[in-house]
Amino acid sequence: MSDKIVSVVRGTGSVLPERVMRNQDFVGVVETSDEWIRQRTGIAERHIAGEGETTASLAEGAARRALDAAGLEPADIDLIILATATPDNTFPASAVDVQNRLGISHGFAFDVHAVCSGFLYALTTADMYLRAGQARRALVIGAETFSRILDWEDRTTCVLFGDGAGAVVLEGVPAEESAGKGILVAKLRSDGSHKEKLFVDGGPSTTGTVGHLRMQGREVFKHAVGMITDVIEACFAAAKIGPDDIDWFIPHQANRRIIDASAKKLGIDIDKVVITVDRHGNTSAASIPLALDTAVRDGRVKPGDLVLLEAMGGGFTWGAILLRW
Ligand code: UT7
Repeated sequence: MSDKIVSVVRGTGSVLPERVMRNQDFVGVVETSDEWIRQRTGIAERHIAGEGETTASLAEGAARRALDAAGLEPADIDLIILATATPDNTFPASAVDVQNRLGISHGFAFDVHAVCSGFLYALTTADMYLRAGQARRALVIGAETFSRILDWEDRTTCVLFGDGAGAVVLEGVPAEESAGKGILVAKLRSDGSHKEKLFVDGGPSTTGTVGHLRMQGREVFKHAVGMITDVIEACFAAAKIGPDDIDWFIPHQANRRIIDASAKKLGIDIDKVVITVDRHGNTSAASIPLALDTAVRDGRVKPGDLVLLEAMGGGFTWGAILLRW
């Protein structure tokens, strides 16, 4: 692999379904309260896909906005990687559907499946293809419709998740033209022994059904902060930097308490943390690119900033990426 190419973000985009579901909307449906949801998770509302809105349609919307932000056309893209655990169909990959929706048939497209860490797995994979010279410009998308795999009678899970999509355009450029920008370090981890703590109880090869999300929330919570901080500290060591060097910390948005505890343990100032869980809920693979696009569009993330991304979720899978904007 050549180290002469670096992967630089050219643009970001995101899409949320129109329908907003507030905590209060759950009251009377399951035994819960706005107060419980806010206190335990930090979530106030989430977006829920309506009829005709699917993972691929949301992904297409996010991709088009990222292309606009980059000043590029679909024809400029030769790789699409879509991170999702809720594809439109068991196969083909929803990435191929997005490719078709964008009106292109050159290059190649595939899905990556690592649940809430999916976007970081997809970004790392795209980075490898670009640095290897196998593609020039990639669309990396995280898109989910978790509302379609929730058990709407299970209060321990149905209040936590939302739908949405986020995307980035990543371009491979010669290091000498990159001005120090691009993906600097990526660390991915997984440990399948935790499968039963967060999984979907169906699938093509087992039940022949789609199934519903099941989570032992307290068990996931117990592992989350340790796994997140370990992999971030590995990133810091690899880049020879510390928490004060970070301009923006953009974590997976599962629970405000996990985000706050991770930032505190790492010594990252809470004012540098991008938080969208209050408005988006947990959108799994879409959560990081949604938060990233929010912070880019509102002017927080600026050229030259050092940005730290982090995720942890089903598998377990977890990881962190450090990049210069
Ligand atoms: O993105 C993938 C990674 N996923 C995560 O990071 C999620 C990690 N886990 C969490 O965020 C938290 O564990 C939850 C938000 C899921 C739960 O918070 P918790 O503080 O761990 O609560 P708990 O599971 O210990 O439940 C406390 C109580 C229980 O009642 P008892 O057993 O004490 O009587 C639950 O049955 O809260 C009850 N409860 C609810 N009450 C009102 C659970 N869900 C609800 C609800 N409304 N929606």
